Amino acid sequence: MSAPNKSYDPVEVEALKPEEIERLRDEALAAFAAAGDLDALQEAKVAHTGGTSPLALANREIGALPPHAKAAAGKLVGQARGAVNKALAGRQAELEAERDARVLVEEAVDVTLPYDLVPPGARHPLTTMMERVADVFVSMGYEIAEGPEVEAEWFNFDALNFTPDHPARQMQDTFFVQGPEGTTGDESGVVLRTHTSPVQARALLDREPPVYVVCPGRVYRTDELDATHTPVFHQIELLAVDEGLTMADLKGTLDHMVRSLFGADMKTRLRPNYFPFTEPSAEMDMLCYVCKGESVGNPDRPCRTCSSEGWIELGGCGMVNPRVLTACGVDPEKYSGFAFGFGIERMLMFRHNVEDMRDMVEGDVRFTRPFGMEI
Ligand code: DAH
Repeated sequence: MSAPNKSYDPVEVEALKPEEIERLRDEALAAFAAAGDLDALQEAKVAHTGGTSPLALANREIGALPPHAKAAAGKLVGQARGAVNKALAGRQAELEAERDARVLVEEAVDVTLPYDLVPPGARHPLTTMMERVADVFVSMGYEIAEGPEVEAEWFNFDALNFTPDHPARQMQDTFFVQGPEGTTGDESGVVLRTHTSPVQARALLDREPPVYVVCPGRVYRTDELDATHTPVFHQIELLAVDEGLTMADLKGTLDHMVRSLFGADMKTRLRPNYFPFTEPSAEMDMLCYVCKGESVGNPDRPCRTCSSEGWIELGGCGMVNPRVLTACGVDPEKYSGFAFGFGIERMLMFRHNVEDMRDMVEGDVRFTRPFGMEI
């Protein structure tokens, strides 16, 4: 800064001439107006209001003026700088508002868009059905038990009191993996298990009574795949062995199961039947959960689900044959037991009106999707 100079005339100082100050002011205003975004405005701000901007330099010159000239020059420069700062603040506010509006549009979330274009995987309805049934028993204190799908013929048949000439052993029902070895014929062959009942024998051999187990699993029979048959299907088996168990316990357990799965007003009925591993044996039906039996003899109210029979056949059951207990090392004088088993495919069919069993095995998501995305 120059030393005070009494003969200094502001009009003579180039940088402080009113036209020059006006020019600098207008130049700054034009630069701010021309700044298209906040970055450009920042650059213009530095150029026109920064410490080395022409107006800041002109301001410095005032200090060197004689006292009488300072006021007029100070007012001139001050007004110009005031106008520049005001224009800067105005443009700044304008550009910020523009940016905020743009961000609101660009970063807006459209909540109506599909939330996930890649659906997550879900378990097959057969699996969830099987677990739902098993859960009913787990909540009653039953344990899940499993056995191999490639099973010894002894477990699949002999331990369950199927005589050697029982028709179920014939080739047309059973996939044999390996025939009985040797010539005596009393060694066990190997089969793909035809039911989950061999897990009963395994569970009894593995544990001391009381035994309460539920056995879900895959089973195999030499059936052609069609609308109502599949060579690979699923069953759930239940076995309870304890002191003093009777058919009343079996009935109460079955009723509890259908009430848990189909509603509080459900019940079951037993019809005499024969199975080698239970005595007495029964076929178990459950009340039709759709018509509750009201379609029977009532042509005005036909029921598709039970074909107006009022009952739906579920599976087989009975009191464990003492021969099975003996074969598995359990004393039939001390213990008794009940068992039942049924197919999951059939249950899924009537519970969800599935008309063709092939839909369950083909793995087409158009079939499974309506069952939901339960995992
Ligand atoms: N295992 C039989 C089948 O596959 C079903 C069955 C019947 C299981 C009676 C049982 C039972 O536990 O007691 O046809």
